[in-house]
Parts: sequence; C-alpha cells; structure tokens
Amino acid sequence: MSIHVLFLAAEAEPFVKIGGLADVAGSLPVSIQQISQSFGASDRVDIRMALPFHTAIKQNGFSPKYLGKFHILRGQQELPCQVYQSSNAGMLVYFLDGPPLAGKTAVYSPHSNQDGEKFVFFSLAALKLPEFLDWRVDILHTNDWHTAPAIIALKTQRCASGMLSNTKTLHTLHNLPFMGNNNENAMMAYDLPPGDDPNLPDWARLSPLPLGLSLADKIIAVSPNYAKEIMTEKLGCGLESFLIKRKSVISGILNGIDTDAWNPETDPLISQAFTHKNLHERLFNKRSLFRRFNLPEMKGVPLLTFISRMDPQKGLDIALQGLEQCQSQPWQVIILGTGDSIVEDLACEFERKYPQRVRTFIEFNNQLAHQLYAGADILLMPSRYEPCGLAQMIAMRYGCVPLAHSTGGLLDTIISVVKDPNLGTGFLFEEDTPSQFSSSLKLALKCYQEPQKWQQIQHNGMKTDFSWRKSALKYIHEYQALVNTSV
Ligand code: GLC
Repeated sequence: MSIHVLFLAAEAEPFVKIGGLADVAGSLPVSIQQISQSFGASDRVDIRMALPFHTAIKQNGFSPKYLGKFHILRGQQELPCQVYQSSNAGMLVYFLDGPPLAGKTAVYSPHSNQDGEKFVFFSLAALKLPEFLDWRVDILHTNDWHTAPAIIALKTQRCASGMLSNTKTLHTLHNLPFMGNNNENAMMAYDLPPGDDPNLPDWARLSPLPLGLSLADKIIAVSPNYAKEIMTEKLGCGLESFLIKRKSVISGILNGIDTDAWNPETDPLISQAFTHKNLHERLFNKRSLFRRFNLPEMKGVPLLTFISRMDPQKGLDIALQGLEQCQSQPWQVIILGTGDSIVEDLACEFERKYPQRVRTFIEFNNQLAHQLYAGADILLMPSRYEPCGLAQMIAMRYGCVPLAHSTGGLLDTIISVVKDPNLGTGFLFEEDTPSQFSSSLKLALKCYQEPQKWQQIQHNGMKTDFSWRKSALKYIHEYQALVNTSV
C-alpha cells in the first residue's frame, strides 16, 4: 500500500503565486510523487494537493472539473463547500470554494486578521476531503499559518474511524513571524479550542501557527540553519523557549528549485541561452539589458541586481545605504519588485539620485526576473532573515554571483569565497548592516576585476545541484518514519 499524503497550501504555481510558498508548493509535491515512482509499491507516495479556490485563480482562467459539495460546521451554521479537481504534472489538485472565500480578490489581505475566516474554513474543508473522496490519508502535510488549523482540528476533533483515523501530521515552516495572530474570533467560531500545551505562551494559545506547531507530529523548517535560528531569541519571535521544548520533532530540509523552469541552457525567456562551458555568451544578456533600459554601458563595470518582494525582511534599505558607502567604486544596479510602499519609494528615489547607474522597476515581472538572473553579474540578498531563499539558488544556476547576509538558508546554500577560495560560490556578510554590506561588496568588486577567479566562482555555482531530488527524498523519509510510528 502506498503512502497517501494530503498537501495543503495557500498558494501554488502554476495556479497562483504571491511568494516563495507558491514555488515550493508548485514543485515539491510533484517531485515527491515523481521520485517515488521508482520505489516499490509500498513506498510509493500518492500525494494530492488542496488549494483554496481563490478569486485570483478563477481570474487566471483555470476551469477545473466540478466534483460536488459537502458542508462545514461554523458553530450551528452549515456552510457549503464546493470541490473542484485539476492536476499539476500528473498530481491531483483539489480546489475548495465556499462563502468565506467569496468576494476576496487578494490571496492575502494586508492584515492576517482579515484572512482568518477564509483560511480556517479552507483548512476544515480540506479535512472533509478524504471522506468525500473515499481516500485514506496517512500524512497531513500543512504549510505556514494558513493551513495549520487543519492540524489543530485533526488533533482535537479526531474521528476514531474513517479516512483520517490514523493520520500523522507534518508542518513545513516557511516564515515564523507570520503566525496568523489576532484570529481568535475565527478560531472560536469554528470551535477550535485554545492550546493547552503548558510551554505555549499565553498570547499564542489561539494563534494558528503556534498552536499548529504545538500539535504537529513533525515540524520541518525550510533550511537546517533556520531550524536552529527559530530556537534563538533573535529569530524565535517569542516562541524560542516553546520551540526548544519541541526540539526533538524539529528539523530542517532545504528547499529546491524547479530546475526545468530555471535552466539557462533552455530558458525561452532570455535573449541568449548559455552554459558554464560558453559563459562568454552570457554577456549578450547583459548588453541587451543595457540597451533596453538605456543604461550607459561601461566596460568592466559589474551589473548588480535585486529581485525580490519589497518587504522590510528583504533588507533593500541596507543594500542602498551600503551602495552609497561605495559611491567611488564601479557598479550599476537594476532593482525589480513590488510590495511595501516605503521600500518601493526608497528604490525609486535611488534611481532619481543615480540616473546613470540605477534602474528601478516596481512590478512583478517574471520574464524580466529571468533576464536579470541571466545578465547581471551579482545578485544582492541583504535579507534581515531568510528561512530559505530561492533567488540565490536561481542566481547561482545562471552564473549570477550572490552577495548575501549569512542567515537562514543563505548560509546553507552559499559557500563563502572568502572562507573557501576554491569552492566558493558567493559572498556572505555576518551582520545585516550597511557597512558590512559595503565591505563585502568591495571584496566582490575586486574579485570581479580578476576574470579567472570570477569565472571559477560562477562555475562552482552553476555546477551545484539545486534540484528538489535530495530534499524530496528527505521528505519521503520523514513520511515513512511518521507512518511507522505510533503517535
Ligand atoms: C518564505 C521565506 C523564504 C522561503 C520561502 C519558501 O517566503 O521568506 O525564505 O524561501 O518561504 O519556503
């Protein structure tokens, strides 16, 4: 008998994408399914995903097949839930729809307390899916605060029989500060009880993520280093003592990237394909960016780029101040992203101040992102914290050298050129301050002037395996271990 996994997420490629969760939910379960095909029948994983049928997905023109409906109890009230079915690369995907989702155009509202109803409803609806499909679930795999209520409901309202009677739970933690706080009303409306774990701080007893973490059988952070960092005062968000007590069920598995979608050899979105064997062809991509954006091309000057959601987490302010400290050095930079208006304004202001050196694009533009990875020399990732980070892996695959704060998954994926000149893949700075950023940038700029050294760094990054293979196998081992325990 194969292992049955129900994978829940708030967003997933190719249906809807806001942040890194969509990349992971779009590629991890598919990889798990594909890799397990080569196993014996009993170790095969039948993984299926459920997503909220967001208005944004409907607007994207997806028309999945209608399967039927059931009801969810909200106190005394019965709410209808419609079930639709589609697929992603051979994996079944269910879309769940109902009144709390209606009329909400954004996947995430500006404040998480506006989304409590929607995600609690979705999480409880997902738990009804196995009965509806007549499909036994061995593992319930949730992601982030939005789907943690499914673990809470399963553990506190566990049905003795049926499709969920022996289900184990695994939660992947992508970003601890986003806990879904201030949703007590929604939690209580759907009869989810406050947590009774004595180690849980009082403020967290009805908060979806902490409560889910207190009940999950296994917690996986998206990098081994982040798994450690969440148990420290600096990045534990007030949950560090509680998480230390849960240490035995916490580990980290690095995210992978979709190496088909991100492949400089075959990428249809870039001007000139290339590999590590003909790196000189890469220059064509840099030149076409200069021409398009009317940036003066200066020989020997590296092109930097910042490609990210404009969230204070991502530290663009640190990079901009650091760049000002390196004004006398040669650099040009292209900034791409949208998000927080204060960060957006900083980026626009920077272009106004340095029109010969800076271009800023306040937009979500996948094609331009591909072209920047393929044409820029250095990717800036000054994130204050970074649970895993995907951009640095994509950049390395495209020969764009990352310069990053040594935190979270950045530390797990980038080998420091300073520490290991032969195997180094990028530049890391210890503290998230402008002066540390600028010292590291000066080193990188110096290195850039030594073409042989630079190419070695590019080669090292391009040859690293960032595919999901290793990590998907680790997840499968976690599933197997859970199935074999009697929690
Ligand atoms: C969140 C984290 C990011 C991670 C992504 C996918 O967006 O901030 O570091 O890469 O989730 O796990």
